[in-house]
Amino acid sequence: MRADMERGRDASLRPTVIRAAVLGAIAAVIGVILGLLIHWFPAQGSTQSHKIDTFWDVLIICSVPIFVLVASTVIFSVVKFRMRPGEEELDGPPIHGNTRLEVIWTAAPATLLIALCAYAYIVLHDIEKAPAKSLGPEMHVHVIGRQFTWQFEYTGKDGKKFQTTQLYVPEGRSVRFDVTSEDVLHDFWVPAWRMKIDAVPGITTHYRITPVKTGKTKTYPVVCAELCGLGHAFMRQTAHIMPQKDFDTWFAKQSQGGGAAAGAGGAAAGGAAGGGTNVAAGKQVFAANGCSACHTLSDAGASGNVGPDLDKVLASQNEAFIKQSIVDPNAVIAKGFQKGIMPTTFASQIKAPDLDALVKYLYTVTHK
Ligand code: CUA
Repeated sequence: MRADMERGRDASLRPTVIRAAVLGAIAAVIGVILGLLIHWFPAQGSTQSHKIDTFWDVLIICSVPIFVLVASTVIFSVVKFRMRPGEEELDGPPIHGNTRLEVIWTAAPATLLIALCAYAYIVLHDIEKAPAKSLGPEMHVHVIGRQFTWQFEYTGKDGKKFQTTQLYVPEGRSVRFDVTSEDVLHDFWVPAWRMKIDAVPGITTHYRITPVKTGKTKTYPVVCAELCGLGHAFMRQTAHIMPQKDFDTWFAKQSQGGGAAAGAGGAAAGGAAGGGTNVAAGKQVFAANGCSACHTLSDAGASGNVGPDLDKVLASQNEAFIKQSIVDPNAVIAKGFQKGIMPTTFASQIKAPDLDALVKYLYTVTHK
């Protein structure tokens, strides 16, 4: 008798369940199409980004229908089996285990998860593996994170190193980044490349990408993706993708100490030459040490606002004050700013002749 009742109940439910399943299937298809149509990520700036985006699409295709299935079953059940007035004292029909159902709902997600993990592993292995030797030597860039700027160090053919504040990489050639930090945790991230990794004090982390241009876009933003202090949001620079030939020209020029190379080699040599070049060398030191990430200085085209506007605060100061503000930034704090924001490492980081050039430069351009 009871079995007959349950059978009858099942039979009356069948059309409703079928209708719900059809609606759920339509919702799943719409969800998947929407998921694939949405532009989730910026331009694809590396060969790795294509593989990562494909993986993302596969995840959308697998997960959206499951989400729709679970959500629609819950909503359907809440509406269909809700308690009606007068049913407060009633108990629902007893439910016993259903082995077949339990095997299915355990095995199906397990299989799907294992398959996705295997696919993820293959993609990861693929994007991390070193390029074939036949493609020529891989390029290496040492990325140094520091509050609040990125510094990029290249090694010239003669083994001499030079640093830049903008990242330059050749198009279509594998580049390996060795990432370190001089102070706290940072995270080296170029969204267009899809790869990011923490810069951890004391250890070197790595990743590699092969940059590609997308349409006319030759530059991609470099950002810090780990909260690292008050200037975190301003730790943004630019990656420039250059054709190999242009890159070689740029690289040769930089290794000879010309252009906007880091303070160390070029600027010091220029600075020693005489008063006029001293100012020009100071401008390079300003650029090479990432001062523009935090300060505004019209002569350098800098518009940072983490620290004081140098055009304003230095106009009434002498060279001794400017020097002190660089080597001992907490000695005098400009109105509206706090102690401890500017790194105190510049005294050891900038060589003496470069520091003098920087002071001279700052004094000259703020006293016109
Ligand atoms: Cu460096 Cu956030």
